[in-house]
Amino acid sequence: MAQLWGGRFTKATDAEVFAFNASIGFDRRLWREDIEGSLAHAAMLGKQGILSGDDVAAITAGLDGIRDDIESGKLAIDESAEDIHSFVEAELTARIGDAGKRLHTGRSRNDQVALDMRLYIRKRIDETDEALLGLLKTLYRLMEDNTDTFMPGFTHLQKAQPVTLAHHLDSYFEMFRRDRGRLADCRARMNECPLGAGALAGTTYPLDRSCTASLMGFDRPTRSSMDSVSDRDYVIELLSALSLIMMHLSRFSEEIILWNSNEYRFVEIDDAYSTGSSIMPQKKNPDIAELVRGKTGRVYGALMSMLTTMKGIPLAYDKDLQEDKEVTFDAVDTALSCIRLFGGMLSAMRFNREIMEKSALGGFINATDAADYLVGRGMPFRDAHRVVGELVLYCIERGKRIDELTTEEFKEVCALFDEDIHEAVSLRSCVERRNTAGAPGSAAMRETLLEAGKYLEEQG
Ligand code: ARG
Repeated sequence: MAQLWGGRFTKATDAEVFAFNASIGFDRRLWREDIEGSLAHAAMLGKQGILSGDDVAAITAGLDGIRDDIESGKLAIDESAEDIHSFVEAELTARIGDAGKRLHTGRSRNDQVALDMRLYIRKRIDETDEALLGLLKTLYRLMEDNTDTFMPGFTHLQKAQPVTLAHHLDSYFEMFRRDRGRLADCRARMNECPLGAGALAGTTYPLDRSCTASLMGFDRPTRSSMDSVSDRDYVIELLSALSLIMMHLSRFSEEIILWNSNEYRFVEIDDAYSTGSSIMPQKKNPDIAELVRGKTGRVYGALMSMLTTMKGIPLAYDKDLQEDKEVTFDAVDTALSCIRLFGGMLSAMRFNREIMEKSALGGFINATDAADYLVGRGMPFRDAHRVVGELVLYCIERGKRIDELTTEEFKEVCALFDEDIHEAVSLRSCVERRNTAGAPGSAAMRETLLEAGKYLEEQG
């Protein structure tokens, strides 16, 4: 297929150079956005009297036809074109003749590709956001069902204080809610239209940049023409938001892998989300969680790749910028499928409530509550901490849990203990009495669920 720029060359491009330079193999993905941008550009050229009404009508019909034909599979994207922009323009000219050659008036591939990427990224942000909202709904449902599923809360992966599954899941609810906020921030900042920036210095034609911006749902045109064609900070912002999403998914995956292990048995991953071993017949492996954890590296890689690509590029457009596409496409595809599959795995997972609760009874997890009890009896907390340390040692020597000690045994360690210590260190009251805002107690959790439910309702 002919190139868009043959005039000043005396030799054909070397075949290997052509292949190295071409981007059609991956930017073919932008065909919809490229056509959408060209439709808006043509409409504006017509409105401004730069193109005749007949030309605009022919271009519009031609582009609509190309879009329909690609969509229906009638027209294959020809990979001998240099890039998607060349392909669409050549196809248009083949269909409508000279009017097709007028489409590129007042435009460069530099502002064209910057526009296509923004249109594409905006769409993918919306898809990712919707998937995150779905995940939040799944989490919310699980939280509602598990406000009294007791489990150990860990620090240093050591049993620390008892919590509930609802409370544990609430952490992830907050993480993914913030992730949505980051996507929204990125979307709001990037929703400006670079079309009309030209190659770098605008154009001599009287373009109406606000017109094309509003035709494509942008808040406004970008301001500086050089910045418009040369920055990709919105790509980096997206990759950074995706990296954080993956980091959160990866932590959660790691927990699920632990919880699903023979040692924990807190959860059982559904058969539909597990795979077996070719040699060990008993195995049922948490592959989906492992893959989500593993693919996190790939998305971080995309972020590092783009930061590095961008760091030495002199203004304005340089071909290095073409490198933004493959990593970004891969990162969005990866993050989106991870969010969706993770949500599916989570909804189908079974939680072994008895095992979780039994685990929450061990590890002297109620030691803080025993100390708080002594504080209630007038002892300074630092002293209570030491006394309960001795109490734990007393338990270890006798092979008992704190809540298994008799009143006499408690008194043996400290005379301030009385009958009501049993109630104070019971698992239920250890959780129930923690009602500071954001804590696992049922009163606090009711508030949490109320607020989270309201948030979800507002989001539709
Ligand atoms: N394929 C190019 C890219 O992705 C399109 C812009 C080409 N511009 C140019 N002056 N060669 O960045």
